[in-house]
Amino acid sequence: MNAVRRRAAAPAVSAAGGTPAATPSAAARAAPSEADGVVIVPMRRKHLREIRRIDKLVYPRPWSMALYLDELQRSGERVYRVACQTVPNGRGVGVIGYGGFMIVADEGHITSVAVHPECQGRRVGARLMLELHREARRIDGLEALTLEVRASNAAAQRLYRWFGYAPVGSRKNYYRSGGPGGKREDALVMWCHDINGPSHGERLDSIATALGITGGASGTAPGVTGGTSDTAPGGTGGASGTAPGISEAGQAQ
Ligand SMILES: CC(C)(COP(=O)(O)OP(=O)(O)OC[C@H]1O[C@@H](n2cnc3c(N)ncnc32)[C@H](O)[C@@H]1OP(=O)(O)O)[C@@H](O)C(=O)NCCC(=O)NCCS
Repeated sequence: MNAVRRRAAAPAVSAAGGTPAATPSAAARAAPSEADGVVIVPMRRKHLREIRRIDKLVYPRPWSMALYLDELQRSGERVYRVACQTVPNGRGVGVIGYGGFMIVADEGHITSVAVHPECQGRRVGARLMLELHREARRIDGLEALTLEVRASNAAAQRLYRWFGYAPVGSRKNYYRSGGPGGKREDALVMWCHDINGPSHGERLDSIATALGITGGASGTAPGVTGGTSDTAPGGTGGASGTAPGISEAGQAQ
């Protein structure tokens, strides 16, 4: 197991206030398209305050600002994207979700995918995952993506299955808190192999179609280049890519 910290989402309950996540209306569940004004852009320092606000709503143990700053400095070993809701003139009005992965040799380890509770169920998570997968395919030598997810987090698991992840095992008592009854909770380990193969490409194309996204940039904001400045094609992260002071994967949660 790779010594990174990864996210352990509180299942459907806000860690901050214990308030149940908003239940989206039928209208809100429609897939966002470019017309909805949701754009995916590289994560920057300016996004962090809003990202941390989302974290506090969905994770029992949100990351600190210092951790995020450290992650952003590791530009050759990390890929992070944020989903922004924009107004018609294209100006950003707010971060509604984010996600990212760390590069470990030929694998990408997804560290977090989170969407503001009021925006969940509108395919924002799928938009982010699509962008992460497309970005992963642009990185030389990256062959697979993997993640851990709470055993009880059925919605996230459905999302990941849609992208081709399959469970390969579990980690007992992986998550410290946020499980049913406040107990430790097992993690399901999921892998998506052969991300550069034609069948994965076809899967991403069909997901993009389902999301109403045309072209390869999946709604990337005009003037933003898919974020190559944040990513280092061929970056090697490796085990040494672990941020100092970060505890074992989801254990931090
Ligand atoms: C998990 C999370 C990121 C998902 O984001 P989201 O924007 O709500 O998800 P989406 O609207 O993109 O929905 C994903 C959907 O893909 C759906 N999907 C799966 N296969 C599909 C298909 N073939 N066609 C269409 N949709 C499909 C899933 O069913 C899921 O929708 P459902 O819950 O209605 O079943 C979000 O709920 C969240 O932030 N949760 C709290 C933090 C968290 O748990 N993060 C994950 C840590 S591992």
